[in-house]
Amino acid sequence: MADYDYDVLVIGAGPGGYVAAIRAAQLGLRVACVESRETLGGTCLNVGCIPSKAMLHASEYFDAAANGAMAKMGIKVTPELDLAAMHAQRLDAVKGLTGGIEFLFKKNKVEWLKGRASFVDATTVSVGDRKVTAKDIVIATGSSVTPLPGVEVDQKVVVDSTGALEFSRVPKHLVVIGGGVIGLEMGSIWRRLGAKVTVVEYLDQILPGFDGDVRKEALKLFKKQGIEFKTGTKVTGVAVNGDKATVTVEPAKGGEAQALEADNVLVAIGRRPNTDGLNLEAAGLSTNQRGQVEVDHDLATKVDGIWAIGDVAPGLMLAHKAEDEGIAVAENIAGQTGIVNHDLIPSVVYTMPEIAGVGLTEEAAREKGEIKVGKFPMAGNSRAKTNHEPDGFVKIISDADSDRVLGVWIITSVAGTMIAQATQAMEFGATSEDIAYTCHAHPTHSEALKEAAMAVRGKPIHV
Ligand code: FAD
Ligand code: NAI
Repeated sequence: MADYDYDVLVIGAGPGGYVAAIRAAQLGLRVACVESRETLGGTCLNVGCIPSKAMLHASEYFDAAANGAMAKMGIKVTPELDLAAMHAQRLDAVKGLTGGIEFLFKKNKVEWLKGRASFVDATTVSVGDRKVTAKDIVIATGSSVTPLPGVEVDQKVVVDSTGALEFSRVPKHLVVIGGGVIGLEMGSIWRRLGAKVTVVEYLDQILPGFDGDVRKEALKLFKKQGIEFKTGTKVTGVAVNGDKATVTVEPAKGGEAQALEADNVLVAIGRRPNTDGLNLEAAGLSTNQRGQVEVDHDLATKVDGIWAIGDVAPGLMLAHKAEDEGIAVAENIAGQTGIVNHDLIPSVVYTMPEIAGVGLTEEAAREKGEIKVGKFPMAGNSRAKTNHEPDGFVKIISDADSDRVLGVWIITSVAGTMIAQATQAMEFGATSEDIAYTCHAHPTHSEALKEAAMAVRGKPIHV
C-alpha cells in the first residue's frame, strides 16, 4: 500500500472544508487542510454570512431607533450613527469566529497548510514549494462573485459583497445590480443606515427560486421600507467618473435607456465555483457547464479518492449545505454512510422581516401533482401583533392525497428560526395534520405554523 503524507487532504477551509477536516480527524484519520486566506472559515466567516449578519443586526437596531419603531414602544431616542464602531463590532465577530476554527483545528489535530493548492496528480497536491500526498482529497474551494461583463469591480465605487460590507461612509445613492439574496441583505443594511437604494433586477420578480407568493409579498414589504426597484430591467453599462458612477439601464425586453447616478454600485448577480489554478485536469477531473465539479450521491467525483463539497459542487450555495456535506464526506471516507437530503435544505434571507423556505414552491409542487395549500397571516398571530410585526405569513403546501408536507414558506421576523421546525417535520415525513395537532407554546410566532397547517385541513382559529 502506498505511503501517504495524510489520510485526508481538504482543499479550502470554508464551512464545507473545515467541517470535513474536523469530522475526519474526529474519526481517527490524519488530516491536513489547505487554505490560502490569512484566516480560516472561508467566504462565510470572513466576508459572507457572519459579517453580513453583524451589519444586518446592528443596522436593524439603528433603524428601529430612527424609524419610530422604538418610540412606538415608549422608548424615545434620536440615534447617531458611529459607522466606524459598527464596522469594529463586525470585525470583532469575524475575528472571534475565525480564531475559533483555528482553535478547533489545533484541538482536533488538523494541520493547516497555508497557501494555494494545485493538483499534481490524483493523490498529490502542491502547496507553494511543497508537494503533499493523501489517500483521499476533498475539493472544498467554494465560490466567488460572478462578474458582470463590461463592469469592473474596483471595490471603491463599484463593489461586490465584500466591498459593500466595508463602506466607510453611507452612500447617498446605492445602486444594486441583482435582486437576489445579497442584493436584498446589503440593500437593507445601507437603506436602514440612510442610503437611497435602487435595486435593478433583470427578471420581473426578485428572489428567484423562492415561492411565488413570497416573492410578491417580499417585494411589497421592501418597497414599503423605501427600497426602490427596477424589475424587468437590465444594466447595459456602468461608467465611473471620479467617486461617482452612472448606471445605464433599459427594459429587459428592450426599450428606452435610463441613466441612474450613484455614489456606489453593488454587483450581486450570483456566484460561481472556484476552480481556477486548481489544475483539475492533472487529477483527471473537469468542470461541468456551470463550472462545478460533478459528484455522485456520496459526494465522490469520477476519480477514485477525490471528493467535492460545498459551493464548488452542484446544489444550493449555502453554508449549512456545505457543512452537512462536510460531515457526510468525512463519514464516507471513513467507511461510514454519510447522507445529505438535498431536497430539504432550508433557505433564509436575513432581512426584516426574515424570509425562509424549505422544500417545493407552490409552483413546483403543482407541476408534480394535486396539492393543498394553507396560509396564515402573521397579523393573526398574537406575538407578532404584540411585537408590532404584523407583516408576512406562513404557507404550507401538502400533497392532496397523502397530506405529506411538500414545502413551507415563511415571512416574519423570526422566519429563519421557525424554518428549522418545518424542516425537521418534513425530514420525519410529517403531514399537515401532524403539525396541526402538535402543541405549540403560546405566545410564539411558531403558532402561525400550526395555524397554517390547520388552514391546509380546513380553518385556523385566529383569522
Ligand atoms: P467557501 O466558504 O467559499 O470557502 C472556500 C475556501 O477555499 C476559501 O476560504 C478560499 O480561500 C479557499 N480556497 C479556494 N481555492 C483554494 C486553493 N486552490 N487553495 C487553497 N485554498 C483555496 N450562506 C448561508 O447559508 N447563510 C448566509 O447567511 C450567507 N450569507 C452570505 C453572505 C454573503 C455576502 C456571501 C458572499 C455569501 C453568503 N452565504 C451565506 C453563502 C456562503 O458563504 C457559502 O455558501 C459558503 O461559504 C460555502 O462554503 P464552502 O466551504 O463551499 O466555500
Ligand atoms: P442570487 O442568485 O441570489 O441573485 C442574483 C440576482 O441577480 C437574480 O435575481 C438574478 O436574476 C439577477 N441578475 C442576474 N444577472 C443580472 C443582470 N445582468 N442584471 C440584473 N440582474 C441580474 O445571487 P446573489 O444575491 O449574488 O447571491 C449569491 C449566492 O450567495 C446566493 O445564491 C446564495 O446562495 C448565497 N447567499 C446566501 C445568503 C443567505 O443564505 N442568507 C446571503 C447572501 C448570499
